[in-house]
Amino acid sequence: MKVSVVGVGYVGLVAAACLAEGGNHVVCVDNDQKKIDDLNQGVIPIYEPGLTEIVKKNVEAGRLIFTTDLSEGVAKSLLVFIGVGTPSADDGSADISAVLAVAKDVARCMDGYRIVVTKSTVPVGTHKKVSDIISSYTEHPFDYVSNPEFLKEGSAVDDFLKPDRVIIGTTNPAVMEIMKQLYAPFMRKKSRMIFMDPASAEMAKYAANAMLATRITFMNELSGLCDELGADIEMVRHGIGSDGRIGSSFLFAGLGYGGSCFPKDVRALSFMGDGCGCEMTLAKAVQAANYKQQDRFAERVIEYYKNRPETTLAAWGLAFKARTDDVRESPALRCVNKFIAAGIKVKAYDPEAMETAVADIDGKVEMGENAYDILNGCDGLVIMTDWQEFRSPAFDDIKDKLNKAVIFDGRNLYEPPFVAKQGIEYHSIGRVSVFPQGVQQETDSLRMRA
Ligand code: UDX
Repeated sequence: MKVSVVGVGYVGLVAAACLAEGGNHVVCVDNDQKKIDDLNQGVIPIYEPGLTEIVKKNVEAGRLIFTTDLSEGVAKSLLVFIGVGTPSADDGSADISAVLAVAKDVARCMDGYRIVVTKSTVPVGTHKKVSDIISSYTEHPFDYVSNPEFLKEGSAVDDFLKPDRVIIGTTNPAVMEIMKQLYAPFMRKKSRMIFMDPASAEMAKYAANAMLATRITFMNELSGLCDELGADIEMVRHGIGSDGRIGSSFLFAGLGYGGSCFPKDVRALSFMGDGCGCEMTLAKAVQAANYKQQDRFAERVIEYYKNRPETTLAAWGLAFKARTDDVRESPALRCVNKFIAAGIKVKAYDPEAMETAVADIDGKVEMGENAYDILNGCDGLVIMTDWQEFRSPAFDDIKDKLNKAVIFDGRNLYEPPFVAKQGIEYHSIGRVSVFPQGVQQETDSLRMRA
């Protein structure tokens, strides 16, 4: 099929490359000349495992073209995907101005029937606004489809190529058939294609992200209670995750959720509720509790070092999660900024996100080339991103290099008794702190306090 995708951010670029991988001819359009030039040279603007390879392969096969010329894309395509950003506006609403601007430009380029598909996350009701704009700028017929993406950064290519479900928001049976054909190469036995009206498709996207954010946040709040009452959040996770009604994924307590989607979408859902007189009290509470979780961790570390002047900490991880260089709303950056504000010096290492983090922490943090070099001269190690390479570290090196062998782990990467056996003091999330020689102590000052 002939398809164009507008926007070369996460959503647009991954969708374009994967649709080409499925055998379609894809024109990928963006108005950022530099990004398009880079892509034409094989330079991918984001770090996403597997993306470089499929972009290269499909460009070479002639199925994927990058251009700034929207009319070329629209002229060659039956389907036009909109995959531009919808960032949070100052009031918490999703700013859909880029989506509406693209809709207008697409309409102006249309020379016949088109199917316009929105992949961007847009507030419920946007389908109507986009349709109205298109109708007012073209005489040509069109259909509108809401097709939200459910890609996770770090596994976005796999999520697109092997989806659990694809949601198609249209009520037109002929368009349903076309969307079925388009997605046929990606549907596995377990995959489901679910058809619904556009408003429900728009809502389903917010509901999915807010539901997941709520699960995580509930576990995070429970972890605080576990700290206070001496229970172990990991045991609790096993206990409830084995209940088929609850399920085991997205129950990991940690530093709080971050990234380009959950915080923005929970905020936008709250805003939508306020806008129609249906206050989303739970979504608002989730937002507040998520920041509280990040701050509790940072304050716990600050409290530990409060009587020690000239503290320097080594920080492992800056990205909001593993397998991405994205630091948008990263809990790690919020914590680092709190440490610095409290007078603690920070040396940081992240396998992918040091360049992207520079804008937030440049000049305030010393960046290291490798996880172990930054430990020298530090008074403790703080783990903030769940990168695979941090999961089984050389504990002997950690112990030898640090001035004081102590780890604050915001991701619960290790078994506490094992770390204590390595001669390292270990504080994690919602689990009792452990000290060398296997001696378990509970120190009031080390507990996470709300
Ligand atoms: C999310 C959705 O999963 C995806 O479907 C949507 O399209 C975009 O938003 P993403 O932001 O890439 O994807 O990350 P995800 O893997 O969902 O994690 C979000 C945040 O939750 C991260 O900060 C992560 O560290 C945190 N998290 C996740 C937890 O703290 N605990 C968990 O159990 C799972």
